[in-house]
Amino acid sequence: MKLLENKVAIVTGAARGIGEAIALKLAEHGAHVAFTYISDSSAEKAQALQQKIEALGVKGKAYQSNAADFAASETFVNDVTKEFGTIDICVNNAGISKDNLLLRMSQDQWDDVMNVNLKSVFNMTKQVIRPMMKAKKGSIINMSSIIGIRGNAGQSSYAASKAGIIGFTKSVAHELGSRNIRCNAIAPGFIETDMTHYLKDGDASKAFLEKIPLGRFGKAEEIADTTLFLASDLSSYITGQVISACGGLNI
Ligand code: NAI
Repeated sequence: MKLLENKVAIVTGAARGIGEAIALKLAEHGAHVAFTYISDSSAEKAQALQQKIEALGVKGKAYQSNAADFAASETFVNDVTKEFGTIDICVNNAGISKDNLLLRMSQDQWDDVMNVNLKSVFNMTKQVIRPMMKAKKGSIINMSSIIGIRGNAGQSSYAASKAGIIGFTKSVAHELGSRNIRCNAIAPGFIETDMTHYLKDGDASKAFLEKIPLGRFGKAEEIADTTLFLASDLSSYITGQVISACGGLNI
């Protein structure tokens, strides 16, 4: 029996990077996976991912939906509930960074990052707890960041949004533990994706690597493994926690 046999999972922002790796990992372990992508330019990749998921013998479906938009999130969750019957696992993965020193940061840059990274988590969580409360079970996994724990120059908006996710996660765990709904966060360190393409640059890359005890950047699949653990019953007594998957960067 697979770890997530017959479970229904949703993943936001899954056309590439960590979200894509998570969608595939959950599907490999038996979950039916509905996922979102945002831009028209991602539609082809989203269709390809849907096919890869279905090739694993489970149901997969791509939805174009903006996680930062409250009404769109409500529509997405309603559509998935109609199509898949319920939602057991919600992975709030969608995120952006618009890095700038505070002196130069515009209000729009701040608002965009807070809306996509933090408000999206509220939007989606508020919707998925309805089917989860009905089913008397559920696992919500929010993608925070090591930057939300330690901060970083030039990343005040990103750090604030990711720290906000941690406070939100712990509060939801308190509110919904009695309903058998767990809510945890993952704090990845530096993971090789499009978001961190700048790490490939020689000097910056070396400086970062020196701070990581494991001596390398992480892979999207390693964050997917952590997600699988939190999604499955292997973590049935874990809620309100932040798991750092960062190669030891925060010690
Ligand atoms: P990425 O940029 O490759 O992927 C992010 C995905 O989210 C993209 O597919 C994008 O289209 C989607 N997205 C953006 N705005 C959206 C919206 N409003 N609605 C729906 N989808 C939207 O980035 P990556 O690296 O895969 O990051 C995934 C998550 O992991 C993000 O929340 C990020 O902050 C977090 N993270 C990443 C780290 C890294 O080193 N790559 C480290 C720590 C956290």
